[in-house]
Amino acid sequence: MKAENSDKSARSEGPALHKNEGIKEASGYLRGELAASLADRISGAVSAEDSQLTKFHGIYLQDDRDERAERRKKKLDKAYSFMVRVRVPGGVATSEQWLNMDHIADKYANGTLKLTTRQAFQLHGVLKWNLKPAIQEMDKVLLDTIAACGDVNRNVMCNPNPAASEVHAEVLRTAQAISDHLTPRTRAYHEIWLDEEPVAGGEKEEEEPIYGKTYLPRKFKTVIAVPPSNDVDIYAHDLGFIAIVEDGKIIGYNVSVGGGMGMTHGAAATYPRLAEVMGFCRPEQVLEVAEAVVKVQRDHGDRVDRAHARLKYTIADRGLAWFRGEVEKLLGHKLEEARPFAFEHSGDRYGWSKGVDGKWHLTLFIQNGRVKDTRQLRLKTGLREIAKIHKGDFRLTCNQNLIIGGIAPEDRPAIEDLVKKFGLDEALSSGGLRLNSMACVALPTCGLALAESERYLPDLVGELEEVMEQAGLRDDAILIRMTGCPNGCARPYLGEIGLVGKAPGVYNLHLGAAFDGSRLNRMYKAGVKAEHIVDELRPIIKAYATDREEGERFGDFCMRKGYVEPFQEGENYHEPMVVPVQT
Ligand code: HEM
Ligand code: SF4
Repeated sequence: MKAENSDKSARSEGPALHKNEGIKEASGYLRGELAASLADRISGAVSAEDSQLTKFHGIYLQDDRDERAERRKKKLDKAYSFMVRVRVPGGVATSEQWLNMDHIADKYANGTLKLTTRQAFQLHGVLKWNLKPAIQEMDKVLLDTIAACGDVNRNVMCNPNPAASEVHAEVLRTAQAISDHLTPRTRAYHEIWLDEEPVAGGEKEEEEPIYGKTYLPRKFKTVIAVPPSNDVDIYAHDLGFIAIVEDGKIIGYNVSVGGGMGMTHGAAATYPRLAEVMGFCRPEQVLEVAEAVVKVQRDHGDRVDRAHARLKYTIADRGLAWFRGEVEKLLGHKLEEARPFAFEHSGDRYGWSKGVDGKWHLTLFIQNGRVKDTRQLRLKTGLREIAKIHKGDFRLTCNQNLIIGGIAPEDRPAIEDLVKKFGLDEALSSGGLRLNSMACVALPTCGLALAESERYLPDLVGELEEVMEQAGLRDDAILIRMTGCPNGCARPYLGEIGLVGKAPGVYNLHLGAAFDGSRLNRMYKAGVKAEHIVDELRPIIKAYATDREEGERFGDFCMRKGYVEPFQEGENYHEPMVVPVQT
């Protein structure tokens, strides 16, 4: 790669940079006062500055929102705890790692594991004093939380592809290589969490060749897709590589840039945006392309307004041609022209499948990715028992589900016995709506949640299942996604039905995304009360049952029938297509 200007991110002119830029700059490569904050036993929290830095270490300060009001009345401090996100590049964990996470969830967190929409593990309810022991135990099985959040490249996702084993092995290696290449080089994580020597002063030896002192303007997310599956939702991500496979071999990747979901209610300048394909590169060029894309965003992304700081806005403002030119300048050569490809779906394929290497894979539906034991379903225990004997891997899908992967034919009966014993596959007989549902965490842990999501969607789907059943659509797959706020962690703008929390019990209803993730939905009605959602959707679902064309997907039907119109960049994504009558 060509030499380029050194870190230009700390600008000295123009409007004042966002305060987080100063925090990053002064942090000594992400050290800040974190070590002291952790040692302070008086507060369960960390300082405001340090709570920005912990994100780069995969850790979010949160408090129990259910308890807020009661504690305020009693003049108590908030019930602080931390969310810890554990990176799993490509979503593949060993049985040993699974058992380790299962144990850590019980010992240091709230006894549950969340499989996220981006192939990571999340722990909730970790008290400050338990952070370090939890991270040290993860380290023993080579798991870490570095860069799981923060203004850096985060967990790199790839298609967990149970069928084409060779292609999967290669995309997984590539995902891991991108992850390694773009992981911050600072030793701060090792010093603070793993007690590896100096904390204060350690930064003097540091260098961040890719990021510089102030890292990126905002978070950055990378994925690899293997058509025809778009399970990674490539268009929702800053950087994507679409594998082009010929004769069973990956000949290269189309490169996509500039996707992102998050927006802010009422701020028309913020909107979800789909990534665009900008060219093609050879497998051996992937790392330099990824690095160049990151560097162009590092130097040109907005460091003043964080709501305008994602790569999607850099590209929307300056155009794809400009961006490609900047990337090519850094590369010192041109990208090739993109190759044809076709996606068919963005969800997961459930049940047993056999790979070309003769190994078996079982894709299980995990409601909202929450692994826990309940009276009805001992999911956590069942998966633990499997991990004790399973010689293959656990693959976290991009849709909060789980693949028990790489089972040798002779080992399948024993795994199957456990699956049956714990009823782990019973959920696979759910209707097509539930099997394609996703909800973000929201309440009670997420400080940004305006409405319920994970705790509410299963019930809503239950009500909608009755409507689907009556319409004769029980097994029809419809993507339904809910989030507790417009940030979009469960990619709701790519749901054929999207519900975005606005206030307690109130959601914006979006319709019309494409089943293969290639078209955004559009707001159909704003501010729908939870108790009216089913009434809003019933006539549309019924009409779909009777008026759809052969093979027509629900999202496509909503567009064709004019419930909503496709979103064009530059339009106001926040405008509902129909102004609802408020009751
Ligand atoms: C600007 C926007 C965003 C902010 C401020 C934000 C913040 C957060 C916070 C605070 C949580 C923790 C919730 C909890 O576990 O209690 C979370 C979870 C998560 N976020 Fe975001 N988020 C944003 C957008 C997104 C987007 C667009 C995606 C994906 C495309 C995403 C992916 C995730 C994932 C995978 C989780 C883990 C839980 C899950 O699977 O739902 N986030 N986010
Ligand atoms: S979408 Fe909003 S409410 Fe849901 S987890 Fe993300 S930030 Fe929290």
